[in-house]
This record gives sequence, C-alpha cells and structure tokens, in this order.
Amino acid sequence: MNGAIFFSGKYGSTEQYAKWISEATGLPVFDIKDPMADPSKYEYVILGSSILYFKLTIRKWIRANLSKLQGRTKILFSVSGAGESDKLNRWVADSLPSEFASKIEHVALRGKLDHSKVSWWVRQILWMGSLMNPDPQASKDERHGFDHVDKNSIQPIIKLVKQFNDTEVPAS
Ligand SMILES: Cc1cc2nc3c(=O)[nH]c(=O)nc-3n(C[C@H](O)[C@H](O)[C@H](O)COP(=O)(O)O)c2cc1C
Repeated sequence: MNGAIFFSGKYGSTEQYAKWISEATGLPVFDIKDPMADPSKYEYVILGSSILYFKLTIRKWIRANLSKLQGRTKILFSVSGAGESDKLNRWVADSLPSEFASKIEHVALRGKLDHSKVSWWVRQILWMGSLMNPDPQASKDERHGFDHVDKNSIQPIIKLVKQFNDTEVPAS
C-alpha cells in the first residue's frame, strides 16, 4: 500500500516528528498548509497534529477533507504537553467527527514548550492556565516550559507502517 504523512503544527515539534517518520519510512510528508496536500492519492495516511487549547490543530482540515480521507487506513499522532491519558483521548475524540475518531489508530507523542518562542499574550494565557491546572506537574510544565520530544517514541508508528506496507492490495 502507498501512504503519506500530513501534519499540522505551530512551534516545530509536530513537523520534526513528521520528518523523522518520513526519514524512517520513505513516505512523502506534507504540511497541510501546502495546497498540494491531497490525501485521496494515497491508500493510507498518517496524520500528525499538535494539541493547542485542548484541541487538535488539524481538526478543520480533517473536516474539510473528510470525503478524501474516507475508506483510507489512518494513523493519527497527536503532539502535546500531556502524555497518554484519558484527558488526552478525550481532547482527540472531541476534535473529530465520532465516526472518524472510531476508525483511527491514535499514537500519543509528547512535544515541547519554549516560552521564548511564544508571544507575550500566549505566555499570560499559559500562566493563568497553570494557576488553574489541578495536576501539579502539568501546572509546572505550563509555567516553566518543557521538552519531551523523543525520536524513539515514533517506533509504534514505524511498526504500523511496516504492517501496512506488507498488506497486499486485493486485485480489483
Ligand atoms: C498556546 C498553547 C496551548 C497549549 N495547549 C495545550 C493543551 O491544551 N494540552 C496539552 O497537552 N498541551 C498543550 N500545549 C503544549 C503543546 O501541545 C506543545 O507545545 C506541542 O509541542 C506543540 O506542537 P508544535 O510544536 O508542533 O506546535 C500548548 C502549547 C501552547 C503554546
């Protein structure tokens, strides 16, 4: 089967993961801002998206491309401060049409937050968020920043791609 990677990110970590996956698999990689990014040309797709304000940043592109994505095998990797957890699964599910959400393989990857790269406004929002966050570690991360980017964490995606590539496409 042939596949491709489509990603949406803002501060660089989702793009970094997309490029690492591309290097490891040989799959082409597209930023969703690229008008040439057309998922209908591929039998399976890997969608990568950062989580900002409890939502997948790729959600609008997914809705706009729903018909092109239907019937294709899909992996979705999210990139967030939060690690794998019920709350992360909820943010992912709430960002997607339910039928679509039920048909993806979700892999949770962790990103980074460098306060020197975000605007003054965003720093204030993060500061207020940290005051209200009931999770002490997440609150500290929000206030001071973090770097949880880990190249090794893409391994489950590489494994899935191997399985897809070994799958014969039935003759039509
Ligand atoms: C404004 C802002 C909002 C964020 N909101 C969340 C959030 O709701 N949940 C979370 O787990 N991480 C959140 N993060 C952390 C990002 O998911 C993390 O920085 C990620 O690496 C961003 O991906 P990118 O570098 O591809 O843009 C937020 C970061 C910023 C700057």
